[in-house]
This record gives sequence, C-alpha cells and structure tokens, in this order.
Amino acid sequence: FTTAVAAATLSLGATGAFASCEDGEIVVKFAHVVNATGHPKGVAADTLAGRVNDEMNGTMCMEVFPNSTLYDDDQVLEAMLQGDVQLAAPSLSKFETFTKVFRIFDLPFMFKNVDAVDAFQTSETGQAMKDSMQRRGLQGLQFWHNGMKQFSANVPLVSPADAQGLKFRVQPSDVLVAQMEALGASPQPMAFSEVYGALQTGVVDGQENTWSNIWGQKFFEVQDGTTETNHGIIDYLVVASVDWLDSLDPAVRDQFLTILEEVTVAGNAAVGDLDAQARQSILDAGGVIRELSDEERQAWVDVMKPVWEQFEGDVGADNIAAAQEINA
Ligand code: LMR
Repeated sequence: FTTAVAAATLSLGATGAFASCEDGEIVVKFAHVVNATGHPKGVAADTLAGRVNDEMNGTMCMEVFPNSTLYDDDQVLEAMLQGDVQLAAPSLSKFETFTKVFRIFDLPFMFKNVDAVDAFQTSETGQAMKDSMQRRGLQGLQFWHNGMKQFSANVPLVSPADAQGLKFRVQPSDVLVAQMEALGASPQPMAFSEVYGALQTGVVDGQENTWSNIWGQKFFEVQDGTTETNHGIIDYLVVASVDWLDSLDPAVRDQFLTILEEVTVAGNAAVGDLDAQARQSILDAGGVIRELSDEERQAWVDVMKPVWEQFEGDVGADNIAAAQEINA
C-alpha cells in the first residue's frame, strides 16, 4: 500500500521537497500551478517544505505538487475545504467566489511596484484581508509576491488600440474582465495550465502575466512579443482551511506558522532578482520585449484606469486612497 501511494504521488510530480511521510506524521499537501524552479512561488513552496520536513521531522511532512499536477487553481480551494489538500497559494485574482476584498489588487495601475503592494498588505487594512474568508472556512496566512504584469499577444502591442478585438486569456476575476473590455478586447477566463496551448493554437491571441510566468510557461515562444506595461500585479495568498488549522496542536501550529513566516520574509525579499532573471532569460532565448515610452504607457493608463470607478463600491474609496498614498 505504502509503495503504491508513493508511486502514485511521484507520478503526480511532487517535487524534490517530497519526503516519504512516516506513520503518525501530519501530511501537508501543498498544491500549486507554477514551475518549481526559478519561480517565486515554486521556490518558496519548496523552501517551506524543506524546512518543515527537516525541522518538524516526525511531526509534520509536507509534499509539494507544482505545475497543476494535483489541482488547478479553480479546484484547489474546494479541495481544501474537503480536506484533500492542506496548503495552496493561488493568486489574489482567484478568490472571487469567496471574497471581493482582493479586487483592489487587480485594478490596473493601482500599485506602482511590488514594494507598494507589500506596504499596503502590511498595513492594518491589508492584514485584516487575510481574515476575510473565515466564514467560508478559509484562513489567509501570508502574502507571497510575484511581480508586475505585462501584456503579450500574437501581434505587436504598442498602443492600446493594438489590443482591440483580440482575445486575451484572463484569470477568473471580474476586474480583469472589465480591464480587457475597457481595451475593446475579448476576455477569456481560463486555467493557467491551458494558456500555452490556447496561445499556440490561436484559441486566444494574448495574455497578461509576470516575467516569471511568461518565462516559466514559455508563453513568449508562441507570442509575437511581450510589452513591458507593468500595468498590474500578481500576488498570492498562502491559505489553509480553518478546520485544518484548528485540528493542529497549538505548539505544532505555532512552529509551522513561524517557519512559514520566515520563509515568506526571505521569499518576498528575493522576488526582484527572480523577476529580473526571468526577463533576461526571455531575451536570451530570443523572445521579443517591447519597452514603452512614458507617453506610450500613459495611453494604456488613460484607457484602463477608468475601470476603478466600476469597482470603487467593492474595494472602498478609502482603500484606493490608501494605496495611492503609498504610491506617492
Ligand atoms: C495565472 O493563472 O496566470 C497565475 O495566477 C498563475 C500563478 O499562480 O502565478
């Protein structure tokens, strides 16, 4: 039985941080959708598992399933509520069916860089957001960063008019749907694991993502180029079920949460380097990156920023003002 389970686990693609769990250990399955190496989330997940398996050996055992090998992001939260997976870190765009508070992070041009996102999240308002889904059975534990989003397409994108009429894959977020509609483009919500194929076959013309995702999934291979718009962010919430956290012995929970916090601090400090490396790797592999002049970028701001008004009621004018103050 043990061998069969181990074989099944391995064939699902659990990464190097996979430790064969011993009888009596609390098994923590961490499912995510990105590549394990060179990616802020993949690296942080493996670092977390490495530390848990080392420092909590005999008590807790973590297995990481990258690349959507266990669940897509649209399934993982339900699976968590069923107790089939204990940890995940979906992007903040993927909690729509649980809470609307994270919509502020999807609004285009809301945060000027990852430091501004960090400052907002560490504020009292940001920290309170981690508790916004408790009634739905989910507890946010830590915010993990990735980076700024860029647009890519199968035609050159320089002016916002270039996006008109194109089909863009978006994450399942009403804000992102509205953002694409503001561009006159057609938004197509789709799982991350399906994006490469959809771009390759022309099911969609373009997408928006961070350098590490564009590099990690090789989107640049099947696009004309990527335009450095820095128009939004992808950031994650490490999340667990309230029931699972409650089931842990307090000392065990504390040790686990302390390790998670330390891994978060180190991982978030490293995202700038990983972002730059991914961008450079795309160039080295022959991918095209288009930079915009200030004027050209302003044209994208002018077309997309009015989307804020549609969501002001959901995210709160005071929160928008707080985010803008941090940007200043
Ligand atoms: C996406 O679906 O594009 C991203 O949320 C994937 C990820 O986890 O970075």
